[in-house]
Amino acid sequence: MDKNFYITTPIYYPSAKPHMGHAYSSIIADFFARFKKIDGYDVYFLTGTDEHGLKIQRAAEKKGIDTLLFCNKISKTFQELTKTLNLSNTDFIRTTEERHKSSVEYLWKILEKNEEIYLSKYSGWYSVSDEAFYSEDEIEEIDGIKQSISSKSSVEWIDEESYFFRLSKWEKPLLEYYKKNPQFISPTSRKNEVISFVKSGLKDLSVSRKSFSWGIKVPNNKDHIIYVWLDALTNYLSALNYPDTKDRNFKKFWPASIHLIGKDILRFHAVYWPAFLLAANIPLPDKVYGHGWILSGEEKMSKSKGNILDPIEIINKYGLDPLRYYLIKEVSFGNDGNISQERLEDCINSDLANNFGNLCQRITTFALNNCNGKIPTNFDFNVDDIKLLDRFKTNLNLIREKIDNQDVNFYIDFIISSLFEANKYFNDQEPWKKKNDPLRLNTIVFTTLEVVRKISFMLYPIIPESSLKALKIFDISEADIEFSSLENHEYLRKKDSINKINILFKKVEKNND
Ligand code: ME8
Ligand code: MG
Repeated sequence: MDKNFYITTPIYYPSAKPHMGHAYSSIIADFFARFKKIDGYDVYFLTGTDEHGLKIQRAAEKKGIDTLLFCNKISKTFQELTKTLNLSNTDFIRTTEERHKSSVEYLWKILEKNEEIYLSKYSGWYSVSDEAFYSEDEIEEIDGIKQSISSKSSVEWIDEESYFFRLSKWEKPLLEYYKKNPQFISPTSRKNEVISFVKSGLKDLSVSRKSFSWGIKVPNNKDHIIYVWLDALTNYLSALNYPDTKDRNFKKFWPASIHLIGKDILRFHAVYWPAFLLAANIPLPDKVYGHGWILSGEEKMSKSKGNILDPIEIINKYGLDPLRYYLIKEVSFGNDGNISQERLEDCINSDLANNFGNLCQRITTFALNNCNGKIPTNFDFNVDDIKLLDRFKTNLNLIREKIDNQDVNFYIDFIISSLFEANKYFNDQEPWKKKNDPLRLNTIVFTTLEVVRKISFMLYPIIPESSLKALKIFDISEADIEFSSLENHEYLRKKDSINKINILFKKVEKNND
């Protein structure tokens, strides 16, 4: 079996600087990408910016800047964010790039050739903020302003010539596809809303606009701009050089393993996108996962309320890994979640500083003082040692399976309970009382070091930088990290000395006001 893994984030609108929601999707995607990488997969991890359409054109007009210059500027902040978040992305795609434009034009031509597109007229509601069409029953009026019921963004009336995609034709094939591929829309809790939307009847979809200019022109009719979602969704193909199906990356990585998105854009990914692909005879991605939203109470994020959601601010104050750890742990993956500075500080103090950081310090200090700074070579495991070490070996395949089901909560709970067991083991075994029994002392030290090594490997996808700092204890570098080696209880035999490391996480002074 080919071990290839292609994961994507949404490509974000560069209409304003990135916020915590964008950081969240990207960090979660990075978690999966890094996990698959250490599990021996060839990984293609794609993110980028979605730069066409009226939303972006208007945002640039409002600033009085040329649209492309505006995009360049804000797309750059998203590219910088990939560095700030320590993402392992393979590629960053911008829809204003030539490689993307040619893919979109090609896909359009295929759809036209397959008679999936026809020219007519669109009259109806449109939200520029969502770049989405809404039917009359998806609209409400509040204080005289018409808005989308689901997103609360205002809508405007459109009446213009437009190309249509024969979406109605794909209603039954889509429903069949969902049935045959029950994992295609995940989590399951979101599947039903998509299915009932499709069952309620799909209308043909307007896929071009005439009244503005910022976008990719319809081949053979330059008066029309291709609908920004048809344009944007194609990024998942264009990054792999579609339509060059002989391209190494395309052959290797398409169809995508998972499109990770927020639930706000599920309809586009679970209905429109597979319909476009079916219509163009392109294989469908394995899975579309719509995660929940980060909330700040019921309220909108605001600095003055103290519910800060600017990723850069948080990173400057606490560091990147605490934020990564916190988002992955605290927002129960799949559901909406609140985040607070208070809980973030608790995470740093208890999980990171106390449970992990302290364990690393205690065992290295003890080994430096009692084993000449060497990893013991002479040891003999008893049942207690084996029990602690075995929890990794026996759960290896279960962990893989959970990851393939995006059960992030299982993964993190497994680490937390392992840390608890490791700390308990070290306390219960009392190696400081075994100075007259060097074999036992060495065995306890070796076992604890092995567990620190295993936990650090597992932490790598979550907090890569801190994991690598911890692995300096053993001179283990990034390229050495292999998930499968969690089976091996004597991995550290091939290592030699123990290095002292700096404090991994500083505790946060908590002021109780
Ligand atoms: O929709 N909580 O771009 P966008 C969690 N360009 N995730 C959040 C979030 C929140 N509060 N807010 C945003 C677009 N996100 C299109 C996508 S893809 C072909 C085109 C994340 O800038 C989440 O992943 O509005 C959501 O789906 C995405 O950002 C929307 O980003
Ligand atoms: Mg949005």
